[in-house]
Amino acid sequence: MTKEKEEILRKSREYWNPSKVEDWHGKGIDLVMGKREGYRFWDMDGAEFMDIHLNGGTYNLGHRNPEVLETMIHATEEFDVGNHHFPSIARAELAEQLAGLCPGDLNYSVFSTCGGEAVDVAIKSARYATGRKKVVSIKGCYHGHTGLAVSAGDDKFKVPFHCEGEPGMFVQVPLNDIDAMEAELKKEDTACVLVETILATYGFPLPAPGYLKAVKHLCEKYGAFYVADEVQTGLMRTGKLWGFEHEDLQPDMIVTAKGFGGGVYPISATVMNRNAGKWLFEIGRLHGSTCGGSEIGCRVASKVLEITTRQSTVENVHRNKQQLRKNVEELMARYPGFLKSYSQRGVIMGLNFDCEDASVSVVKPLYDNGVWAHNARLHPNTLQLKLGLLCDQAYLDELFEKIDAGLKAACRNRKRK
Ligand SMILES: Cc1ncc(COP(=O)(O)O)c(C=O)c1O
Repeated sequence: MTKEKEEILRKSREYWNPSKVEDWHGKGIDLVMGKREGYRFWDMDGAEFMDIHLNGGTYNLGHRNPEVLETMIHATEEFDVGNHHFPSIARAELAEQLAGLCPGDLNYSVFSTCGGEAVDVAIKSARYATGRKKVVSIKGCYHGHTGLAVSAGDDKFKVPFHCEGEPGMFVQVPLNDIDAMEAELKKEDTACVLVETILATYGFPLPAPGYLKAVKHLCEKYGAFYVADEVQTGLMRTGKLWGFEHEDLQPDMIVTAKGFGGGVYPISATVMNRNAGKWLFEIGRLHGSTCGGSEIGCRVASKVLEITTRQSTVENVHRNKQQLRKNVEELMARYPGFLKSYSQRGVIMGLNFDCEDASVSVVKPLYDNGVWAHNARLHPNTLQLKLGLLCDQAYLDELFEKIDAGLKAACRNRKRK
């Protein structure tokens, strides 16, 4: 390890997050990101990685996408963060663009800085409009680490921080169990059902066909709002702009973040219909976010939407979706009993391994072979495979050669044990 990298690790332990640094170190992953470009990054020491984690889709369009960077630089010649108290050119134009890209009457956008904050906005909006407090979400979900979002998510992230919320206010029901959902909603005390269209942090198990639509139907029946958390499934990753579009349903609110800022500017949005956005018409000045909807961020997000919805991008995603399936099925044939099954929608996949903790037995051998992927934190034996929207065939060929080498090493390690 170079002296420079050692020094950064020391400072990180001393001044940043000691247990996070230690946790990675314990797994043999002393990574400090250096140069980054496209769908690759390099460790400070020079080791090259193909990025198929993409920080949950933050780098959907690649690291430092040149068009996005150019847009951001150009925006700094005219804009800064702006003042969130006033209307602005960039915010108004992005909001109009989003209204055009979201189905039906989802016409109003509230901008924030990150996914968690945008989920908080959705919950606040639902509570204001319904006068109810309860939030129902799906077991194994993850919606962020901020105030309300963390309470709506899994115990793993909220209990240590005592963020369980008031008793009975954050309820979870199992995925695909429509009776359990109805049992909660028929109490008629639910403000919103918060649904990750596909549970990313649980390894992308697909909702049963018709499930999401049935949940929306129950929301309508019992007066709750349906919030689609599209932080991981939105922005064309499933082959459609929004993941819920595979189910032909119309949410009351959509949350988008991560890749929305093109990996260069933190920005997120909660897009809502008029009913869910009642507060916007009555007490609009009682919620705000100083940097949420920064004007520079809005220009970046507008560009991201434009690139994401281009015909060539959509075609690339559809091509790669087929190729991914073929390649993963070949791997399953090559590693029977180890790579047991997979789930896929578009270019996001969950690969299910016969192991207890893929962060040790799969992530590390892949890392050693130049592939950066991560397992699902709430379902440790599933590896998330998240391909960027713009990857080409040569990238895929190289990627699967490296994944094959990584899995070969993983199997050797298994035999040794
Ligand atoms: C589905 C989902 N929702 C919300 C969030 C929170 O986003 P952020 O980290 O930007 O607050 C995440 C982050 O991983 C996520 O995966």
